[in-house]
Amino acid sequence: MSPGFKDLLNTDKGKGAFMSSEDIQDNAAEARMSEDDYVKYLESKVREMENEIKRLNMKINYYKKEIENLLSPPLIEGVLLHLIDGNRAVVRSTTGPNLIVYISESVPRDKLVPGARVALNQRGSTIVDVLPEYEDPYVQSFEVIERPEVTYDDVGGLKEQIRELREVVELPLKNPELFKEIGIEPPKGVLLYGPPGCGKTLLAKAVARESQATFISIVGSELVQKFIGEGARIVKEVFSLARRKAPAIVFIDEIDAIAAKRIDIGTSGEREVQRTLMQLLAEIDGFRPLDRVKVIAATNRIDILDQAILRPGRLDRLIEIPLPDRQGRYEIFKVHTRRMKLSDDVDLYKLAAMTEGLSGAEIKAIVTEAGYNAIRSGRRVVTREDFEQAVRKVLSKKNIRRGISEERDNSLRVML
Ligand SMILES: Nc1ncnc2c1ncn2[C@@H]1O[C@H](COP(=O)(O)OP(=O)(O)OP(=O)(O)O)[C@@H](O)[C@H]1O
Ligand SMILES: [Mg+2]
Repeated sequence: MSPGFKDLLNTDKGKGAFMSSEDIQDNAAEARMSEDDYVKYLESKVREMENEIKRLNMKINYYKKEIENLLSPPLIEGVLLHLIDGNRAVVRSTTGPNLIVYISESVPRDKLVPGARVALNQRGSTIVDVLPEYEDPYVQSFEVIERPEVTYDDVGGLKEQIRELREVVELPLKNPELFKEIGIEPPKGVLLYGPPGCGKTLLAKAVARESQATFISIVGSELVQKFIGEGARIVKEVFSLARRKAPAIVFIDEIDAIAAKRIDIGTSGEREVQRTLMQLLAEIDGFRPLDRVKVIAATNRIDILDQAILRPGRLDRLIEIPLPDRQGRYEIFKVHTRRMKLSDDVDLYKLAAMTEGLSGAEIKAIVTEAGYNAIRSGRRVVTREDFEQAVRKVLSKKNIRRGISEERDNSLRVML
């Protein structure tokens, strides 16, 4: 393009402006050429404007839609509980009671599964849409990002249990090929059971710390209390999160809160727990043993668990975390006194002998109490006497507690 033409485009004055004294001779030829260019220029201008019209039309449409949205009444969000028949369903609206509502013809029936989020029309009488699954921030928060500071070394005793847990949970996540080669299916999940305070939660924390897999942790009782009416949905989303982030371990602590035997499902609360359990069973059934998702559950009430959860193919590997024996207690003492200055007369093995029947949590309480005794006496070193005093205190408290629970049992018996 000649410099003259460029000037033409850039000035309003037109042809006269570009005829400078230097190129006055060939100005006739150039003028002809410029005319062609000028036409091209105008054509491109037209195209540009057409595009501009298109763009503005899109904008108009956008604002029209926006006005429509602003004027339309809000829909009500709800969670589908169950279908009554092809035309009606029970929905829990996010604001209030359970509603029995109609289902609009346009709603795809295959998406209407219990736990789905749905939109109700403004009067709350009809399902008009199924909402897409969204990533619930609550559910995401179940993923343990900051791994706890507990390692296998912080667990006293329980060596056999740790070995078994790693074999069932970590090995298949790390080396699925091994299992394919041998031709066996590893269990999908394990249940840690045993009396309170003996290290079930602790062990799971160590797994969270030491395994490379995504660790997702939920607490059964929390699920029942915090997410009333949403237990089933949360369970579903937890497992979908696990599958997305596989290899993953789902840890369900206090599973008895959602998996107690179905004795009587009279109240709506029980029905809700029931639905949560059914969803959990469905989820565990839903993934294959080698799908790189493992479930660890823990309970101190295995006696009240619904047998369905323990059926082969579900949490069929049971690992007992019993009250520690003397050796176990010794090792728990060792773990908790690791950072303590002990005087020479402290014999942990003897202490272990004195604490028959106590749990890991109680042994930890003894160690803490012994430390307090030393502080109270203005010492930096913890002595045997500090420990023995602490043992007596914890034992007597245990007896008081036992007394209270026996009394309660007795009064219950009288009442019945
Ligand atoms: N084997 C153990 N080694 C070291 N510390 C232990 C052990 N068992 C229990 N403890 C101590 O007791 C505390 C409570 O244990 P934990 O929470 O694991 O009990 P739990 O078995 O989950 O009990 P619950 O059934 O009541 O939930 C732990 O944080 C830990 O400090
Ligand atoms: Mg626990």
